[in-house]
Amino acid sequence: MRSSIKTVDFLIIGGGVAGLRAAIEVAPVGSVIVLTKDMPAESSTGYAQGGIAVALSDEDEVGIHYEDTINAGDGLCNKDAVKVLVEEGPELILELISWGAEFDKEGSKLAFTQEAAHSRRRILHAQGDSTGRELERVLINKVRTFKSVSRYDFAFTVDLIIKDDRCAGAIILRDREAIHIYAKATILATGGAGQLYSRTTNPAVTTGDGMAIAYRAGAVLQDMEFIQFHPTTLYSPSAPQFLISEAMRGEGAILKNIHGERFMPGYHTLAELAPRDIVSRAIISEMVRTNAKHVYLDLTHLDKNFVKGRFPRIYSTCLQFDIDITEDLIPVSPAAHYVMGGVKTNLNGETDIKGLFATGEVACTGVHGANRLASNSLLEGLVYGARAGRSAGEYVNKSQKSEVRSQRLKTASSILPSFDTVKIKSTLRRLMWEKVGIIRCKESLNAAREWLRKWDSILKADFTSRERLELKNMLTVANLIVDSALLREGSIGAHYRSDFKERGENWQRHVISQKEKGLQRADA
Ligand code: SIN
Repeated sequence: MRSSIKTVDFLIIGGGVAGLRAAIEVAPVGSVIVLTKDMPAESSTGYAQGGIAVALSDEDEVGIHYEDTINAGDGLCNKDAVKVLVEEGPELILELISWGAEFDKEGSKLAFTQEAAHSRRRILHAQGDSTGRELERVLINKVRTFKSVSRYDFAFTVDLIIKDDRCAGAIILRDREAIHIYAKATILATGGAGQLYSRTTNPAVTTGDGMAIAYRAGAVLQDMEFIQFHPTTLYSPSAPQFLISEAMRGEGAILKNIHGERFMPGYHTLAELAPRDIVSRAIISEMVRTNAKHVYLDLTHLDKNFVKGRFPRIYSTCLQFDIDITEDLIPVSPAAHYVMGGVKTNLNGETDIKGLFATGEVACTGVHGANRLASNSLLEGLVYGARAGRSAGEYVNKSQKSEVRSQRLKTASSILPSFDTVKIKSTLRRLMWEKVGIIRCKESLNAAREWLRKWDSILKADFTSRERLELKNMLTVANLIVDSALLREGSIGAHYRSDFKERGENWQRHVISQKEKGLQRADA
């Protein structure tokens, strides 16, 4: 394989909201490469429908947004991180608007919608249900205005380069070439790991790469057991798994079981607007009780023109599969949606490895605690992307010129027996869904652990193809999730153990994973 070396001041791995916002911050400071492993806009950001939560409406206050976030996080939020999120969010949204973001309006005022567990209408949205796309558009355009930023698309990060206990960049694969990119600061913004589950709202790129490469490099990861499951994705054998936004329930949509009975009021006083973990578990209970593979979301009582105008993307996507959401019930079931855990960082995106920063879903500041409040993730990308960029800029200004020493890409291991990557990926995804999903227990987690052991040799091997490297990353992250979920013997937020339904002892402590030290409990 051909190989080459490049040097740059800032290497940003990932091109969603967090990576792009970080790029805007570092672009005036030095040269920047933004890597995406697929097309430039292919990230979870582009798929975000519901919106972005921010306390900007007349009847809202940052203090109320703070309380709602803390309550959804079920006692495990880092309060300082939440304070930063809700206080810095409004200014960054106004900045985004000044860069050309067009959020939906009612008359001349911004329109805010409702989502679960928010006590105010505070969700901004764009083109109805294409909020992420609008953010991506504006941020990509803004990044293009900086000559210091180059984009490398279809570039897969193999591993981080660690020299003298510092991160000095990353080795990437692009066009059958291994490129060693030496960077003074590296920012991980690779998003989440939804693809570990056979049912997910996430795009195909979300294979936990950033979490896995950071772990291999020795970074600390936190709270990997907290996986958020979105209550409603389209369930139809002929249709792709497609998010059916929570904003629909915010606008009055109702959940019904296959017998047409509304069930959420029996599970929670907030009914359809209860926190996501509660709604997802209630749906699973109804599915089991009625022996069905899905429940229904019903919008047929809402005004047809309102529904079409407010949710144009969902309307047209469902119509392709012969579901007219203004007339038909939508078959839905939960799916993996968001990882609350991730690479542990402080409030400035610094990880435990010097020169390595992380932001967005790949990172864990603790802002979401055990369960993320709906529509806080795009805001997190803006706020913490900017912060990670700023601190990376300061770090580079202070740092010495780093030495560039070439290092050979390890070639593929020859001793490893051949294996079917596609088959293992699919078995893994089903295993995670069935044994490490919305409801887990010691028995199911141990069964998953046993299966994962069969693939241990893959974790130790070196590969030079994207498919195999992705599988290795998925297995790495799956192991972290299973081990963390076994260690947390209690139910809190999105982590629900049927064998430990109470919070359990020391529930406030975090679960920390680090390659050299293994798994530990740690105070906040
Ligand atoms: C949705 O539109 O339901 C997703 C919003 C989110 O996950 O924050």
